[in-house]
Amino acid sequence: MDRIIVRGNGPLSGQIPIAGAKNACLALMPATLLSEEPLTLTNAPRLSDIATMTELLASLGAEVSQLNEGQVLASACHGEVNPVAEYEIVRKMRASNLVLGPLLARLGHAVVSLPGGCAIGARPMDLHIDALTALGAEIELKEGYLHARTRGGLKGAVHQLRFASVGATENFLMAASLAKGTSVLKNAAREPEIVDLADCLRKMGAQISGDGTSTIEIQGVDRLHGATHPVVADRIELGTYMLAPVIAGGEVECLGGKVSLLESFCEKLDQAGVSVEQTDKGVRVSRRGDRVKAVDVVTEPYPGFPTDLQAQMMALMCTAEGTSVLEERIFENRFMHAPELVRMGASIDVHGGHATVHGVERLKGAPVMATDLRASVSLILAGLAAEGETVVSRVYHLDRGYERLVRKLEAVGADIERVSGE
Ligand code: EPZ
Repeated sequence: MDRIIVRGNGPLSGQIPIAGAKNACLALMPATLLSEEPLTLTNAPRLSDIATMTELLASLGAEVSQLNEGQVLASACHGEVNPVAEYEIVRKMRASNLVLGPLLARLGHAVVSLPGGCAIGARPMDLHIDALTALGAEIELKEGYLHARTRGGLKGAVHQLRFASVGATENFLMAASLAKGTSVLKNAAREPEIVDLADCLRKMGAQISGDGTSTIEIQGVDRLHGATHPVVADRIELGTYMLAPVIAGGEVECLGGKVSLLESFCEKLDQAGVSVEQTDKGVRVSRRGDRVKAVDVVTEPYPGFPTDLQAQMMALMCTAEGTSVLEERIFENRFMHAPELVRMGASIDVHGGHATVHGVERLKGAPVMATDLRASVSLILAGLAAEGETVVSRVYHLDRGYERLVRKLEAVGADIERVSGE
């Protein structure tokens, strides 16, 4: 397995291009099932998760071709559609569950494997099931597969989510777009990736309003047509690379980034003593002094502090002045980066959903292990300013969500290389 070696190498400077959002693209791609006409996504990120979704859609009968080195995904689903999403593929990526709503809308039935848990939590599907049942689906669990069907097609309904689940909101949005009548989703997720999906569905002819707020209204239509849509910039990749010059020193401009997608995160950086400036090309970031101040963080659904930036913020707090408490309210097991950071000399106490970080002057490089996507990148960030060499193993986790990470950090002066392992 490949490893990445990072050596603390002083301040960074230059520009880092931000790619299209993984979490938007993974919701946009299944929308191809909603129409017989082609759906073309531009600004698509080149990631292994996108390859997995491509494999899944192909198994369902959709053709997805990667053009322009994978930055354009041209998909079409005009032939026979296979309603079965196999465990073999679904188990690789939780977002595979986003084919459930579109298959129900297109075919009136679907058999989708439960994704199974993952490193950061059990990640059940009850909110998806409740939402689609509200639209008239009958869903039962048999031998690890959700068997869903509708009698006479999906019908518009009013439904309130118990929790503002991103995936359940996306499945509901896609299914309701082709349901008969009007639907209203209350306590909907408000993430920018939801707005991006709604924008794309509207281009396909869907009638959706209120996306980005907690109440979304969808007027079902008989059919959707093809469209071309640019994937929104990845706010989590943006937040991740914004922390590189804060941890290592220097100044970096993240091209294509928008501060407006990360207001809570930027407020915390401001409190910690970080300068963030929106330029016409992107977001310019630098540390105001030699050391940031410790700040407390609570992860919440958007527009709160993103759970997907909690591990990266913890890496920054390891060398902050003072003590920081990070509370993880979204996932039940998302502190697996903490023991690896402790191996690098960090002082972190984890109790349940709280991690207390006592800042130290400097971390020391060490061999560490990636456990999930965002934990792995937090170790890379920590290595940028650590004394000596940090060797991160199991970097396949990184390839799920960060395209060309080594090249992007090398370009701003980081001493980083990827070595292929046995
Ligand atoms: C999306 O996951 C993202 N993934 C996650 O990013 C992100 O962390 C998460 O939203 C929260 O923002 C994609 O968009 C592909 P949820 P999703 O449904 O939709 C519980 C990354 O690193 N829940 O909002 O699965 C669930 O267990 C990934 O890029 C239920 O209990 O998130 C979790 O604790 C990680 N029942 C919480 O809700 C359900 O039916 C948030 O889940 C569904 C979810």
